[in-house]
Amino acid sequence: MSEKTGNNGKVYRIKWHSPSNIALIKYWGKRAGQLPINPSLSFTLSRSFTETELIASTKSAHDAGNLIFKLDGEENERFALRIRKYMDMNQEHFPTIRNYSLEINSANTFPHSSGIASSASGMSALVLCLLSLEWQLSTGIVLNDEFYKRASYLSRLASGSACRSLYGGFVLWGSSVTLPNSSDEYGILLGENVSSHFLDYRDTILILSSGEKSTSSSAGHEAMKTHPFQQGRINQANQNLDNLLEILRSDNDQAFANIAENEALSLHSLMLSSNPGYFLMKPETLKVIEIIRNFRNDTGLAVSFTLDAGPNVHLLYHKSIETDVRQLINGELVKFCENGRFIEDQVGDGPKLIHSEIYE
Ligand code: PMV
Repeated sequence: MSEKTGNNGKVYRIKWHSPSNIALIKYWGKRAGQLPINPSLSFTLSRSFTETELIASTKSAHDAGNLIFKLDGEENERFALRIRKYMDMNQEHFPTIRNYSLEINSANTFPHSSGIASSASGMSALVLCLLSLEWQLSTGIVLNDEFYKRASYLSRLASGSACRSLYGGFVLWGSSVTLPNSSDEYGILLGENVSSHFLDYRDTILILSSGEKSTSSSAGHEAMKTHPFQQGRINQANQNLDNLLEILRSDNDQAFANIAENEALSLHSLMLSSNPGYFLMKPETLKVIEIIRNFRNDTGLAVSFTLDAGPNVHLLYHKSIETDVRQLINGELVKFCENGRFIEDQVGDGPKLIHSEIYE
């Protein structure tokens, strides 16, 4: 947008930084309305995030409803259509800005095809921009608890796991009898339910393969609808969640490791036992897992792993064993990484408003 002032009004620029997250208890399978079949729990990442800027104007009646989306400076028509469709489907939440001409510029800090899902950070950053401007125009902006709750709700409708990116630290999405304020509709911050010990956790992401996935997460969620182990999985996730909530109040790294690995392997076993079955792990994934487990058995140091819906391995550990884990990576694991690539991340804060400006 070259000029700052429109014919009949103002130009709004709003920019948000929103983080990605890594699930410990996995969301896998959904019901109508993008509601999960089981609760999930994640921690927010620090260095893997998206920055998105929204520029909205009412330049001319002709431009109203126009939408341009750019990823790393490159226009992306496919995403623009997806965003427009999302806004149309949720128009009651965006009654004002849907009549504006919108330009959206988005950039991820983590490299393309790095194996980190960009939908959680990307969709939450987008929703934060749209919603904060909508609220600013309709009610006057207030970034209060209600705002983040609504942003989480609307992020869920854009991409399930994105609803857990609205808060820092540990976040739960999905109703659980153990936490009465939990909901299938939005994520909640676990806050005081997590000891400071776990806020010092690291996640080193080993990039084993950055290629396109053969089966999407959407297809995986779909396959759960008729999966023979569906009820068993729901029971397992709820049981693992209750156990993890207990562990997160303590400093029990070994118990944490058992749950994290059980969830990761269950996720991938559900893929194997879908019909048709498929697998997203690579031979290197299995080799790396074996090395991690041997290291833990041999040293007693509680480094564990989790996996997303892909082949890359997330190494999870407390900062107190950082030096030992770095030796393990350099000595035994980096050789399995594509071009020696890994990303050192850790538990991080929630989204941040970078700027919000109005030009007359
Ligand atoms: O939010 P989606 O539809 O991309 O699904 C995410 C699924 C997992 O990453 C495998 C698990 C999770 O809870 O994030």
